[in-house]
Amino acid sequence: MRSSRRKGISISLLPSFLLATAIFTAISFLIFTLRGLPSSPALHFASTTSHSQPNGVLVQATHKAAPSPFPPPSSDFDKNPSSCATVEEMGERGFSMTALFKESLRVRFLIQRHFHINGASRVRALSPEQFCRHGFVMGKASEAGFGNEMYKILTGAALSVMLNRSLIIGQTRGNYPFGEYISYSNVTFTMKEVKHLWRKNGCVKKYGRHLVMRIDNFEEPAQTNVLCSNWRKWKHPIIWFQGTTDAMAAQFFLKNVHPEMRIAASDLFGRIGSLSSRPNAFGELMKILISPSEDVEEAVNWVLGGGVDPDITLHMRMLMNRSVRALQAALNCLRRAVHKLHQTSRPRVVLVSDTPSLVKSLLPNISEFAEVVHFDYKDFKGNISRDNNRLQSSDFRVKDWGPAPRWVAFVDFFLASRAKHTVISGAYRRVGTTYAQLIAAFAAANSLGENSSGPSFSFLSSFQSNLLREGLRMQVGWGHVWNRFAGPLSCRNQHDQCAFTPLLPPAWWDGLWQSPIDRDIRRLAAYGVQLSGFGTIDENAIQSFCDLRRDKVRTIILL
Ligand SMILES: *[C@@H]1O[C@H](CO)[C@@H](O)[C@H](O)[C@H]1NC(C)=O
Ligand SMILES: *[C@@H]1O[C@H](CO)[C@@H](O)[C@H](O)[C@H]1NC(C)=O
Ligand SMILES: *[C@@H]1O[C@H](CO)[C@@H](O)[C@H](O)[C@H]1NC(C)=O
Ligand SMILES: *[C@@H]1O[C@H](CO)[C@@H](O)[C@H](O)[C@H]1NC(C)=O
Ligand SMILES: *[C@@H]1O[C@H](CO)[C@@H](O)[C@H](O)[C@H]1NC(C)=O
Ligand SMILES: *[C@@H]1O[C@H](CO)[C@@H](O)[C@H](O)[C@H]1NC(C)=O
Repeated sequence: MRSSRRKGISISLLPSFLLATAIFTAISFLIFTLRGLPSSPALHFASTTSHSQPNGVLVQATHKAAPSPFPPPSSDFDKNPSSCATVEEMGERGFSMTALFKESLRVRFLIQRHFHINGASRVRALSPEQFCRHGFVMGKASEAGFGNEMYKILTGAALSVMLNRSLIIGQTRGNYPFGEYISYSNVTFTMKEVKHLWRKNGCVKKYGRHLVMRIDNFEEPAQTNVLCSNWRKWKHPIIWFQGTTDAMAAQFFLKNVHPEMRIAASDLFGRIGSLSSRPNAFGELMKILISPSEDVEEAVNWVLGGGVDPDITLHMRMLMNRSVRALQAALNCLRRAVHKLHQTSRPRVVLVSDTPSLVKSLLPNISEFAEVVHFDYKDFKGNISRDNNRLQSSDFRVKDWGPAPRWVAFVDFFLASRAKHTVISGAYRRVGTTYAQLIAAFAAANSLGENSSGPSFSFLSSFQSNLLREGLRMQVGWGHVWNRFAGPLSCRNQHDQCAFTPLLPPAWWDGLWQSPIDRDIRRLAAYGVQLSGFGTIDENAIQSFCDLRRDKVRTIILL
């Protein structure tokens, strides 16, 4: 099915090597030779003349303008040119900004068209007969960690696009999730309104159609139909895809056994196996669906002081640690990003962190070359600051969320997503958490003008070397952006890295340097997916798994 892929070739040509100890060296070397790729990343690193590569341009500019502060290739490369890649290597090869730009605009129009057809204002006006046949998808979240909860809603939105259904934003006791801080677009429905219209149009009485919601729980691999069923054929008025806390669940449809589902998924998420041309799907969904509430916007405008939008956002998730190496790596990454702007005026940098002491200690250093913008909530006297009791950090989450009141995270989010050119994610441990991913995706969508002349946005990950002693192995949380690269193809003992990062976190292992960790191999097995140590997937196995499996149907009747 995907025989042109590197990993596909390697497995089918060289079965006997699978047991050999020198497996990575041998296979990678052979494949690079076969595919005519540069056989040595070291060469690529040293080269400053590869003008033809669209995704090399930005990188090259970085290297030319500011020689890497990090001694290039790690010793692993010297000994063993193509057995593994550094994070920067993965980023340089993986993501083409030009393709991202075109694909994201395409997806923006796709989403606009979708909500034009399925948006609330048109669907409300349907005739009773049409309305009672219409389908909906539920996007429901609670008020736990913002990144995970937002992904639940965005997964619902993505599914509504794939299935050509309207989107309901679930409420709890009449309140939207984070409703005091986030406004949801009027293209969406509430359940209350859908029930009202269902009664008004007599769907049960006249058409015998009950308001039934089918629930599919992604977190129960034995129950979910994500890979095996054709959801476009489901007749239930409402579908709720539950437990979708990151960018992965919606992308599982890329591997669904029904071509119709795969096509719908790749319309939104890009072609399978082509990591370099994937659209900023979640960013574009956020752009149409959410905006800051008036109170939050007031605070954002207060920080920006009527000035222009910031150029760069630096987000540091430090979990109350004060790792000096994390700060140093982030400062170097920030310097490179500033250099790349080629800007004559002093750049504006938004600094966002869960750890207040960090802001104090980084501020003087950044101020040497940029203007720092930071939301100090204690100085802000707006409507929202009277609100300190709501969503207050409880002690047990302080380490996770930081000691500031919860609403500050929303001001920070909307402030950070105003960055025009770059978002940098740094961390004490996990880089590119869901919160950082959403900031980058939203900022990229905000900065992508329909008339802008070309790509100009980048998402960078800053890693200090001690995080990379075992390669990316420590970045294993399922929703973290580098998770799919964390297996054996990630070099050990890397130097500090400042790497291009995908705006749409990959859910599969289709790219050149992607490889899974053992834990994910086991987890995927529970979904019926046989995944090798190189990240190849036996698609025939998924098919036969699905052939043996019955659709699991779980429904509740609402009316
Ligand atoms: C989507 O649904 C609308 C009606 O709600 C229909 O007119 C249109 O053809 C459908 N599009 C696709 C691609 O199924
Ligand atoms: C929905 O919101 C948009 C933008 O906020 C506004 O222009 C439009 O008039 C609204 N539509 C309805 C039906 O309220
Ligand atoms: C920060 O991390 C270091 C290294 O893991 C650890 O030794 C130290 O105790 C941590 N400090 C705090 C305040 O958590
Ligand atoms: C910030 O600047 C101070 C003073 O020059 C220096 O001591 C400190 O190491 C710098 N911090 C980092 C993270 O580089
Ligand atoms: C703040 O609250 C006051 C009183 O409720 C209201 O008049 C004002 O419009 C609010 N300001 C914003 C920015 O929402
Ligand atoms: C883009 O350009 C077209 C034609 O020049 C113009 O009509 C449109 O308003 C512009 N859109 C934006 C978002 O600036």
